[in-house]
Amino acid sequence: MRKIRSLTTLGAAVVLLAVGFILAERYFLDLGSINQKIISLGVDDQDQVRKWWKEAVIYEIYPASFKDSDGDGIGDVPGIISKLDYLHDLGVDVIHICPHYQSPQVDMGYDISDYEDVHRPYGTVEDVQALIHATHTCGMKIIFDLVINHSSDQHKWFEESRSSKDNPKRDWYFWRPARWDAEGKRHPPNNWRSHFTAPAWTWDEKTEEYYLHIYAPEMPDFNWENEETRKGLYNSSMIFWLERGIDGFRIDTVNKYSKDIKFPDAPIVEPWEETQPASEFYNNGPRIHEYLGEMKEILDRYGALTVGELSHFPFSEEGVLQFASAGSGQLNMVFNYALMALGQTRERGQHSRSPFNAPVFKKEMSRWQTFASDTDAWVTLFLENHDAPRSISRFGSDGSAEEQMRSGKMIAMLLATMTGTLFLYQGQELGLANAPRSWPVEEFKDVRSVNMARKAKEKCKHDSTCLKKEIDELWETARDHARLPMQWNSGPNAGFTDEGVTPWMRVNNDWKTKNAELQSGNSLSLLGFWKRMLRLRKEYKDLFVYGVYQSYATEAAELFVFTKVGSGKKSLTVVNMSGEEKRWEGASSILGEGCRILIENIGGGAQREEVLSAWEGRVYSTVL
Ligand code: GLC
Repeated sequence: MRKIRSLTTLGAAVVLLAVGFILAERYFLDLGSINQKIISLGVDDQDQVRKWWKEAVIYEIYPASFKDSDGDGIGDVPGIISKLDYLHDLGVDVIHICPHYQSPQVDMGYDISDYEDVHRPYGTVEDVQALIHATHTCGMKIIFDLVINHSSDQHKWFEESRSSKDNPKRDWYFWRPARWDAEGKRHPPNNWRSHFTAPAWTWDEKTEEYYLHIYAPEMPDFNWENEETRKGLYNSSMIFWLERGIDGFRIDTVNKYSKDIKFPDAPIVEPWEETQPASEFYNNGPRIHEYLGEMKEILDRYGALTVGELSHFPFSEEGVLQFASAGSGQLNMVFNYALMALGQTRERGQHSRSPFNAPVFKKEMSRWQTFASDTDAWVTLFLENHDAPRSISRFGSDGSAEEQMRSGKMIAMLLATMTGTLFLYQGQELGLANAPRSWPVEEFKDVRSVNMARKAKEKCKHDSTCLKKEIDELWETARDHARLPMQWNSGPNAGFTDEGVTPWMRVNNDWKTKNAELQSGNSLSLLGFWKRMLRLRKEYKDLFVYGVYQSYATEAAELFVFTKVGSGKKSLTVVNMSGEEKRWEGASSILGEGCRILIENIGGGAQREEVLSAWEGRVYSTVL
């Protein structure tokens, strides 16, 4: 498919279209998805592939940290309702609520003990119904998290399953006998490692078998091979809420339901560890598309929007298409987890913030953009969620307040001019940054962080250099950064919860100078900038949402330069992803004379076209 890019220039392709569809058809004989190609060239009359959700801005809410309305230090559903106007004013179209279901909260609600009830500190089913109603009344839509790879070990289904070997629900989860070695020592059925702890199997004394958990031991994996399990899940987790009027789901761990149920040992790549990484055995198993097909039948009945968390990237293009092709995939779109992993390898610098690797970032972003225009799939745009550190700390600057805001605006320009559905995470619009490294690690509450910190202490014992290195590494990758309370105002507890209450996680140090109230009235603030950026994105949707992307190589590796073309217009985004001034050829070298700046984060860019200050960004446009 990508042959088109090397064989023709964009201009030639447009001419081809103008010359005639037949000629074009002959030219693209092997393409199969000619319509998608046409839309990707920005031709107006192909509206059939335009969808409301492609143009939507989707805002992720982490309920525990968004807004507490009843003074218990934990965010809640009425708190969310009280902020819907703020979100609408920002330009949000859809809110995504992270799990609000009943849960013992081992993994912050991703361990569900009842799909049909609500975690009491967040509210009740009635509160959630009020939220659905209020969101719709504001003209927005609402999607929930669908977490059905596993449940909590306190779900009644698991309690039944573990109660005896002949319980009718025994087979709803994976139970396997132990392996015994020559010395008579008991071992798990295989050497798989789980995401949060090792190993992926836990021994259950009562029935003397192991059960599988890809995540924490309190999160046993469902056996999707069992049809009854699947039906039970669909009814309880999907239909129950779709009937109550939600508009779709963010589908958690969407490629993990089908596993290699022979449960072979994973290859030994870390001989010094007892367990081994095994994701190839529990991702993208043989029946995954059959299961997703069943789910799609239900979801389609309700016209539900779906976005899947597709982990275990990098994927081949074909692999992703099986999930997200408009023609044959089962989901509207998926998250590209290769982006989440950027800069999070063990090779990162240990004692200070590692230098950010712009070339790798540009390559991955470009790969995804090209994917959007070369196939019939649609893509997501996101740089933050509840599982990752904050974007200005990762890709921008967490230096001075001025640098933080400037780099936050630079990121806004980058994201909001790219093709795909745009996802924002709470607080991203305010430039919330990572927790300072000076905080004790005990401030982190995430099960992953707690386990990593414990392991580090075990490993390093009294060696403080070793411990610092391990904790530095945890700091670089911790999910907790994104889970600190929202900063609503300069008052006590940042307005997240009442004065005198201890919030469930500590409020970041900078709340007095960085919060929604301060930024709301100021069009020069990051919040003000995001509002303008989101308005521009909608105003120029032919370009920014649907346009064809092309990136440009620059001498300075930290500059990210790309154009978008659509409906007879062309835009150029140029951003400096570094803290140093950089030079480049200038906008007119790409757009020609007569281009103008649509938006910029510093000002005066027209007078110094070939120079970009630290973290500077500009978006130019021209009529073709
Ligand atoms: C997803 C969620 C993450 C959770 C995991 C297990 O990756 O985003 O927060 O820990 O699934 O459900």
